[in-house]
Amino acid sequence: MQKYKIAVLPGDGIGPDIVGEAVKVLKAVGKKNNIKFELQDALVGGASIDKYDVPLTDETLRLAKESDAVLLGAVGGPKWEGLDYSIRPERALLALRKELGLFANLRPAKIYPVLADASTLKKEIIEGVDIMVIRELTGGLYFGTPKGVEKLPDGTERGVNTMIYTTSEIERIAKIAFDVARKRRKKVMSVDKANVLETTELWRRVVTKVHHKDFSDVELSHMYVDNCAMQLIRNPKQFDVIVTENTFGDILSDEAAMLTGSIGMLPSASLGGKVGLYEPIHGSAPDIAGTDKANPIATILSVAMMLRYSFNLAKEADDIEKAVENILGEVIINEISSRQ
Ligand code: IPM
Ligand code: MG
Repeated sequence: MQKYKIAVLPGDGIGPDIVGEAVKVLKAVGKKNNIKFELQDALVGGASIDKYDVPLTDETLRLAKESDAVLLGAVGGPKWEGLDYSIRPERALLALRKELGLFANLRPAKIYPVLADASTLKKEIIEGVDIMVIRELTGGLYFGTPKGVEKLPDGTERGVNTMIYTTSEIERIAKIAFDVARKRRKKVMSVDKANVLETTELWRRVVTKVHHKDFSDVELSHMYVDNCAMQLIRNPKQFDVIVTENTFGDILSDEAAMLTGSIGMLPSASLGGKVGLYEPIHGSAPDIAGTDKANPIATILSVAMMLRYSFNLAKEADDIEKAVENILGEVIINEISSRQ
């Protein structure tokens, strides 16, 4: 019997709600296909702060490193907002990404035909949208130093963050983007701010070089991030794969999520190291925690990504995705008939 060890880190807010639903799906897949998923729970984020005073304990990190994959819900909430940055819930997520070497974050934004009316955009704009946002996840503005807030002699303060990329960091994420594009519609849009930020001028040059060297069968274009934010809602169908800096990817993937009708729909896979991490792209929505209102689909689809990318279980992943599509169809039909 195939056996996989999964670290389950529900986190805060709606984290336990959505992870609970995703675990049910995982168990059902295991039972149906005779696969053993060994699940081990641990606290992360605010839940870990409450118990251990730190957002990520050494034990939880070790558990993640010793597992075959990690399933994470969400971290953070108003309760921990006053804490020092170094021990905020979000740090746990950043540390996990960094420690596991997960430099490539895949965030697919795909429209389900039955939800085409749920988007805030017109149906004809979003119908058929199928975008893969590839966000660089362990570099850029999120991790560069110097960073922090310091007091100045005159009593005011000075805040600093630094956007850094090295050639090799850009090369490896570019290769992932081209590889992923080869299995899709073979189009990569590299998003930068090369007209203003030197780091991203390097980004553009290195991506172009990688393309030229090994991937000329893939179409490469470049776009400034401000224009991309606009194009995503003007004509999202022009995009296949988008590859971009950490912060730009954070912002653009939330925007891409809304094309699909709900931020509760976008899963993600963070890859690059030995152990992949799978989580919905949305936050912990503390206002609806425990009310059974949170949409678990992003987390369920993250489980599908786990099966596909970490365990090579493509058929089982397809089954989950198909089930999501079916259930959405049923929900819509029920809703329509209840209105009649
Ligand atoms: C995301 C989230 C995280 C991020 C937060 C919770 C640290 O917004 O995964 O998009 O900024 O990366
Ligand atoms: Mg985000």
